[in-house]
Amino acid sequence: MRDPARGTVARPNYHTSFGKGDSVTRDLMIYNIPKDSIAIAERTLVNPIALTDASLDEGKVLYGRYCIHCHGENGKGDGLVGKEYKGVPNYSVGDYKTMNDGHIFHVITHGKGRMWPHGSQMTPEERWKIVLYVHKLQQG
Ligand code: HEC
Repeated sequence: MRDPARGTVARPNYHTSFGKGDSVTRDLMIYNIPKDSIAIAERTLVNPIALTDASLDEGKVLYGRYCIHCHGENGKGDGLVGKEYKGVPNYSVGDYKTMNDGHIFHVITHGKGRMWPHGSQMTPEERWKIVLYVHKLQQG
């Protein structure tokens, strides 16, 4: 069992092992990659929701409900709460520009650093739609 080759595109399927002890279910509705394993999410997950005008619009609505107050309308980290909270990153600068599907999905689910987890507040499908919209904001 070895890590997938760099650049390999993972396809959503059921019960795939990624190596010692990493038994991960990549079902849309079940997410069991643990909080401390964001690298596995980055390597193996691909957004199962197709990018369409409709899915992007839904992502935008959900972003408006769950993220905008900290991350701001354009993802610059300047939402009303974000300004008080401090240290909310701008999605379109530096390394944040290239956060991939798995990374963003994982952070929404489990939180990161000072950001709280949102996994219990919305379905995986909703989280994936937000991922589509965050990608748009990363483009600045
Ligand atoms: C209460 C404020 C708050 C809310 C709500 C919030 N975030 Fe965050 N977010 C933060 C903060 C603060 C950070 C920086 C975390 C750190 O590094 O300590 C962050 C970081 C991130 C990052 C970068 C993670 C990294 O790798 O450094 C992503 C992606 C992200 N948030 C996405 C979202 C999305 C999508 C939502 C809505 C579902 C959301 N956040 C809701 C405060 C928030």
